[in-house]
Amino acid sequence: MPDHALQKCILPECGATFGIEEVHHACPKCGNLLDVAYDWGRMPAPTHLPELTAQAPELDGWSSRSGVWRYRAMIDFAPDEALMSMGEGATQLRPSPGVAAYVGLAGKGRVECQYEGFNPSGSFKDNGMAGAFTHARMVGARTACCASTGNTSASLAAFASATRQMEAVVFIGRGKIALGKLSQALEYGARTVEIEGDFDDAMARVMEASKAEGLYLVNSVNPFRLEGQKTIMYRILEARGWRVPDWIVCPGGNLGNSSAFGKAYIELVELGLIRRPPRLAVINAEGAPTLSVLVNERNMKWNGGAPDMLLADARWKEMDEKHLNARTLASAIEINRPVNLTKCLRALEATDGVVRTVSDEEILDAKAVVGREGVGCEPASAASVAGARRLVEEGVIDRDAEVVCVLTGHALKAPNATVGYHAAEGSSERAYVEGYGVKGARFANRPVRAANDLDAILKALKATR
Ligand code: F0G
Repeated sequence: MPDHALQKCILPECGATFGIEEVHHACPKCGNLLDVAYDWGRMPAPTHLPELTAQAPELDGWSSRSGVWRYRAMIDFAPDEALMSMGEGATQLRPSPGVAAYVGLAGKGRVECQYEGFNPSGSFKDNGMAGAFTHARMVGARTACCASTGNTSASLAAFASATRQMEAVVFIGRGKIALGKLSQALEYGARTVEIEGDFDDAMARVMEASKAEGLYLVNSVNPFRLEGQKTIMYRILEARGWRVPDWIVCPGGNLGNSSAFGKAYIELVELGLIRRPPRLAVINAEGAPTLSVLVNERNMKWNGGAPDMLLADARWKEMDEKHLNARTLASAIEINRPVNLTKCLRALEATDGVVRTVSDEEILDAKAVVGREGVGCEPASAASVAGARRLVEEGVIDRDAEVVCVLTGHALKAPNATVGYHAAEGSSERAYVEGYGVKGARFANRPVRAANDLDAILKALKATR
C-alpha cells in the first residue's frame, strides 16, 4: 500500500485519519464524509499542469486508453498492479456553438460540452468505478453493491463483470429508473433488487445491507470513487490546452460529481498548479431542490469546515413531515437527501460556486438543443445547459465567458423522454413527458406520418420541409 495516501475526515475539527486498506462509508469518529488525502511532499507531485499525465502507467489493451489512470499523478492510492479499468474516460470536450447561442453567450463567449456519455457504460460513473473497483480489489472485496437512479448500477454491473471475480448487487426504486439503465444492470448480470420506494429509500437500505453483510459499497460516499471522478476536470483542462475555463456547470443529484470537481481544483490550487479555479454551478431539478433550498434559502455554507448541520437536519425533518418526495423527469437526479452535501458545500466555497434549479420543461428544451449538435445526452445531463442559460439570463455568467457544461450521460439512456418530447400532441409517447407537467416542446422534431405510398410520402415530406 502506498504510504503517502490515507483516508481523512473532511471536517477539520475532527480530522481523523484511517489507512487506505480500511473500508468506511463515513468517518467512524464523527460520522461525516471521508476524503482520500495525499501527502504531496512524499510524492513526485506535478510542478506544472502538463505533468498531470507524466506518470500514466502502461496498461494492456483498452485499459491503456483509460482517461482516469492517465492522471495517476493526482490519484495515487494503489499499486500499479491493482489498477482496474474498462477503458473509461476516453470522453470528449466539444465546442458547441449551437448550445452557446441557446445559452445566450455572445462575442468571445463559448460553450464546450464535456460528453461523458462516451464512457463504456454510457455515463460519467465509469470514471468513479475505476477508482472504487481498484480499491475493492485491494481490500479483497467479493461483492459490490450500490443504490442507484440507474447509471451507478449500470456502471457497477459492468465493472463487476469485468473483474471476472466480483458479484454485483444493486438496489433501485421500482419504476424510478430509466429503462436503458435498468436494461444494462440486468443484461450485465447484476442481482437487481427493486425496492418499493425511491432512491433515497434505496440508499438508506443499501447502507444497512452493506454493513450487515459486509458488501463493498460503491456509491459516492466511497471516497475512492470520487478520486476517479476528479479526472473529468483534468480532461477538460488538457483538452483546453491547460487553460482554466470561467465556469463549470454540472447537474446535482447525490452531489458526488460536484464534490469530486471541487476536490480536483482544491488540490490543483494547493499544489500551485493553478491560481484560481473555475466557478462551479450545480444545477438541481426543480422537483429535487434540496441543495438549492439549503444554499439559497437557508444560507447553508461549508463555513471554513464548520457547516451548520442543524440546517440540514431541519430540512430532512421537514421533508419527512411534509412527505416531500423528489419528483422529476430527470430521474438520474431525482434525489432529496444528497449524501455528499457537505463535500459539495466545500466545493462551492472553494470555487465561489452557485446553485440553481431548472424545470423539467427547461431540461427537455436544453436536451433537444444539445441533441442537435449530433451526440446528445440524457435529461439530467441537460440540466447543466438549462442552468447555464438561467445564469446568463441572470447576469451571473457573463455573455463573453468560457463555459463548460458537463453532459453526464448518453442520450440513449432514457429514450422515452426523448421520443415523448418530439412526439405528436395527443400521442401515447407524448403522455409520458406531460405526466411530468411538460407542456411545450420548443425544439420538437415531430415525426412525419404518411400512408404506405410513395406519393403520400413525398407529399408529407414536402409539407414539412
Ligand atoms: N447525471 C447523471 C446522468 C446521473 O446519473 C447522475 C447521478 C447525476 C447527473 C448526478 O450526479 O449524484 O454526482 O450529483 N446518478 C446517480 C445514479 C445517483 O445512481 O446513477 P451526482
